[in-house]
Amino acid sequence: MTAHTPGGDPFYVTTPIYYVNDRPHIGHCYSTLVADVAARTARLLGRDTFFLTGTDEHAEKVSRSAAERGLSPQAWADQNAARFREAFDFMRFSHDDFIRTSEDRHKTRASAMIQQLLDQGDIELGDYHGWYDPSQEEYLTETTAKEHGYKSPVTGKPLEQRTEQNYFFRLDKYEPWLREEIESGAVRVLPEARKNEVLGRMKDGLNKVPVSRRIKPGDADWGITMPGDPEHRVYVWIEALCNYVTAIDTPERAKYWPASVHFMAKDILWFHAVIWPAMLHALGKEPPKVVYAHAYFIAEGRKMSKSLGNFIEIDQLRAYAARYSVDAVRWYLATQGPLGATDADWAYGRFVEVYNADLANGIGNATSRVAQMIEKYFEGVLADRCDGRFGFPDGKALQAALAARERAGNPPTDGARTFELAASTDAAARRAAGVLASGQIDESTAAGVTLVREIDDFITYAAPFTLAKHAEHIEHGQRALGAILYSCAEALRIASLFFYPACPDKMAELWRRWGCDHLHDPNDADSGFKAPLAELAEFGTGKFSLKPGQKIEKGDPLFMRGDPKLDAPA
Ligand code: MSP
Repeated sequence: MTAHTPGGDPFYVTTPIYYVNDRPHIGHCYSTLVADVAARTARLLGRDTFFLTGTDEHAEKVSRSAAERGLSPQAWADQNAARFREAFDFMRFSHDDFIRTSEDRHKTRASAMIQQLLDQGDIELGDYHGWYDPSQEEYLTETTAKEHGYKSPVTGKPLEQRTEQNYFFRLDKYEPWLREEIESGAVRVLPEARKNEVLGRMKDGLNKVPVSRRIKPGDADWGITMPGDPEHRVYVWIEALCNYVTAIDTPERAKYWPASVHFMAKDILWFHAVIWPAMLHALGKEPPKVVYAHAYFIAEGRKMSKSLGNFIEIDQLRAYAARYSVDAVRWYLATQGPLGATDADWAYGRFVEVYNADLANGIGNATSRVAQMIEKYFEGVLADRCDGRFGFPDGKALQAALAARERAGNPPTDGARTFELAASTDAAARRAAGVLASGQIDESTAAGVTLVREIDDFITYAAPFTLAKHAEHIEHGQRALGAILYSCAEALRIASLFFYPACPDKMAELWRRWGCDHLHDPNDADSGFKAPLAELAEFGTGKFSLKPGQKIEKGDPLFMRGDPKLDAPA
């Protein structure tokens, strides 16, 4: 799907694979967006990136609902997986692969992993008795079951007592190793609050984990049979985790292991931070570097639930996108989402507020203003180059601008103020570079917003429109005007790089207007970049900087202003 910048350290980012039974909703889109923004940031930083998402298909509820519809489980899974693919294409996710656990490559790989664990004695047969949550297909500990009144903590449906002969993974064997990995940060569990939770829960000790269930008469032929025991099927959770290995199990992709970051929500952190690293260790494979569990999206202040019927589904996101653009939806998710430990709200009023502030009145308006001035004063052509310090060489452009303001009778400004746009763009690039280690994908968007604010501030201060009126009476007036507008356009070119991971299409449009085809392949908005961010973001004098004599196209506003008085899109 995506071409990559060649070279660079491998970066492997994953999302949970989603139950194919559900309709795609904001929660699935959010986790996948977070991974997409991380993947796009990684590509921008010049990392050789692999981004995986997909669907988890072997749950009992899939075969049950297929039967209710008179379909085979595979046919039902095919239909629903297609909905996820469509939703993710619509959201402009740039995954390199979409894995489905019903694919042969997965069944083969997952079976081989289970077989190895059996052979080594890491999986063994035993009796299991406990509280089972049929709606989630998982066993709960006595403590958790009691805490939730013996109801499913997720769906509220009653738990069942179940006893069965099961195969168990010897998670208990790996407790000391795992504790050390998590405490030392060799496996970083993020955000920090989640790490403490996991370590806290580990204090109760780690038990063996059931990894199979006995096939009942009438069960559909759906799932992976326990190697060497046709009466058992591999428990869907254990099998699903293996997807992260399946997808890179080819000679060309092997370099992506270990995973750089697994993203998910807090509901499934235990599987990813505890069971999965231990399984990998038992298999002689390196554990993931980061396990990042964000919180939940709620809808207009209320938890989303099937009973309230208030899930923000993909159709609603489509309606928002129809009015405000897909990039606007992505922007809200990326900047207002529950990336930390607390839940976040999808609220229409807030959506319009953020959209207007950051996009329509932010980068959109700055782009229009600068393009309009270049069109008006220089017939749409960049006149001069400027190093971002407004000299030629020593601050003369700013001095000319201040002289024009004074001549126009404007109140005096603080003449000592300096703008170092080149320093600001460098700082923004450093901030964006931290995203991959911290998982804080909103650092790149925040860097972009800060930069646009500085550009706006600079325009207000340097007032090129005033300078244009008085240029002929001011020493170096015309040249100063050219340098100032060049600086604005160049700073916006760099700011666009930080908006790109969240707003890839609108930024590709900006690059087209700015004649930046050299940043990437203009015919492929998802193509890799021609150089790492540090080079792309060099101000004024870099290989990728805007060039004097180059055309800047005005075009329609990138983001039309949103009217908060309109009803929410539906
Ligand atoms: N199939 C398992 C995951 C296996 S991974 C090896 C599963 N699937 S799921 O369809 O239930 O998806 C759960 C995930 O969806 C959460 O961890 C999160 O990534 C996302 N979200 C579902 N609801 C969400 C919100 N309300 N808010 C944010 N994300 C949530 O569990």
